[in-house]
Amino acid sequence: MGVCSVGVSAGSADMNITREWAMPNRWTFTIAPIKKLLDRYVGDGTEWIDPFCGTSTLAAHRNDLDPTIKGCSHKLALDFVKEMTDQLNGILFDPPYSGRQVSECYTHLKQKVHMDDTNSYFYWSVKREVAPKIKPGGYAISFGWNSSGFGGKLGFEIIEILLICHGSNHNDTIVTVERKMNKSILIPPIIAQPGGIQPGTHNAVMYP
Ligand SMILES: C[S@@+](CC[C@H](N)C(=O)[O-])C[C@H]1O[C@@H](n2cnc3c(N)ncnc32)[C@H](O)[C@@H]1O
Repeated sequence: MGVCSVGVSAGSADMNITREWAMPNRWTFTIAPIKKLLDRYVGDGTEWIDPFCGTSTLAAHRNDLDPTIKGCSHKLALDFVKEMTDQLNGILFDPPYSGRQVSECYTHLKQKVHMDDTNSYFYWSVKREVAPKIKPGGYAISFGWNSSGFGGKLGFEIIEILLICHGSNHNDTIVTVERKMNKSILIPPIIAQPGGIQPGTHNAVMYP
């Protein structure tokens, strides 16, 4: 199957959308067209962060909850990104792609699954925490089954989307490349429920 590429205008930026075919792989960054894309952006990985790194060693700052993965820290992604200082060149954001995948992963790692681990809070909380730490002109490269990325509310604009078709009725892997805009933004607050934010009480509708 050939490579198909179109350029479209989106908001203030021009974005390129490309579609390629490749076999699926749980270690996303080994998929050939994705590896090629990452080579164009990540360089030697200096001041890049990968809070769900799996087997990838591309980013200088790496973390994965799975303790069997060597050469990285093993915290919850949110705790890991909280420790990061400002002026990051970019983030590779490749978490489990659904609540079900989070559940399966946590069960495998003998980790308790809370409600907030399987709704939008899981993704939004990490994005919100790390977004201000990426320098203007830096990148967020997100992987999943949607092209939401970090979004304009967190100060990013999409510059490129890569669709990887895996054939049959598999979901595509969607790679969304965004650049941090050069303007200051107000990070949206996490809206507390009456009585404050309690673990397991978040509701998906509260997050973009
Ligand atoms: C899609 S895989 C990442 C694959 C990686 N990009 C690669 O190419 O090798 C998602 C990873 O997130 C890890 N993970 C799941 N929940 C996590 C959490 N809350 N904090 C940190 N890592 C987590 C899993 O152990 C898994 O290795």
